[in-house]
Amino acid sequence: MSAPLLEVQVHRKRLGGREVLRDLALSLREGEIAALVGASGCGKSTLLRLVAALDQDFEGTVRLDGRAVAAPSTAIRIVFQEPRLFPWLSVAQNIGFDGRGSAQDRARIETLLAEVGLPGLGERLPRDLSGGQAQRVALARALFVQPRLLLLDEPFSAVDAFTRVKLQALLLRLVRAHRIGVLLVTHDIDEAVALGERVLVLRSDPGHVAAQVEVPVEHPRDRDDQACAAAAAAVRRALHEVHAF
Ligand SMILES: Nc1ncnc2c1ncn2[C@@H]1O[C@H](COP(=O)(O)OP(=O)(O)OP(=O)(O)O)[C@@H](O)[C@H]1O
Ligand SMILES: [Mg+2]
Repeated sequence: MSAPLLEVQVHRKRLGGREVLRDLALSLREGEIAALVGASGCGKSTLLRLVAALDQDFEGTVRLDGRAVAAPSTAIRIVFQEPRLFPWLSVAQNIGFDGRGSAQDRARIETLLAEVGLPGLGERLPRDLSGGQAQRVALARALFVQPRLLLLDEPFSAVDAFTRVKLQALLLRLVRAHRIGVLLVTHDIDEAVALGERVLVLRSDPGHVAAQVEVPVEHPRDRDDQACAAAAAAVRRALHEVHAF
């Protein structure tokens, strides 16, 4: 078996004098999507910030490709619930950061725009995009720097149900094409089971991985598949056991 892409050991993480995470361990392979579910406030966003080295004030280690992650880098990108685009920059400038990129960068931006289903929209301003389109731009921006790992914090919760299913399919295509690993935080059990190879169920106070549910179904998955339904039921049971409901 290949070495893990990501290995996380959080012995302890405190916030405001409270222990938010304790003895949390997880790992991820290249090209794997692991979904993280758990009650509101159990520490999911905190965990993503630690993994991205946006917060380094904790006891523990984060390793990417076997090396300690000591500072934020282009190898790890986060996408949030809201796209967080710069309103004064065009779509292309948002993806390429400042628009001063080379011709090669501009070609890459065009390729990424096509990949996320927005060909030719590089000159638009964010205010002229729908919520789903803006989130596609946020994904393209994350991919522009060719990360090894994408951290997604409820990335599709602000869009309607139809757009959400399309964005989920897009994410699967992107993960396959770019061979990246994904940690996906979601409150949607069906989404976790539709996308994740594994679903990690977090317990609160302090947060740690209480259960892990495998989803042994090849992509593209039929959401009505019995194995998917069984996995969703197992996730629901695990969430009950950790009193998330
Ligand atoms: N800066 C802070 N100071 C003190 N406590 C904080 C701080 N930031 C977050 N917390 C607390 O840490 C806990 C974990 O927060 P976090 O945002 O990681 O939860 P979450 O699992 O992402 O929740 P949600 O599902 O609602 O997004 C919460 O109880 C929150 O109130
Ligand atoms: Mg959160």
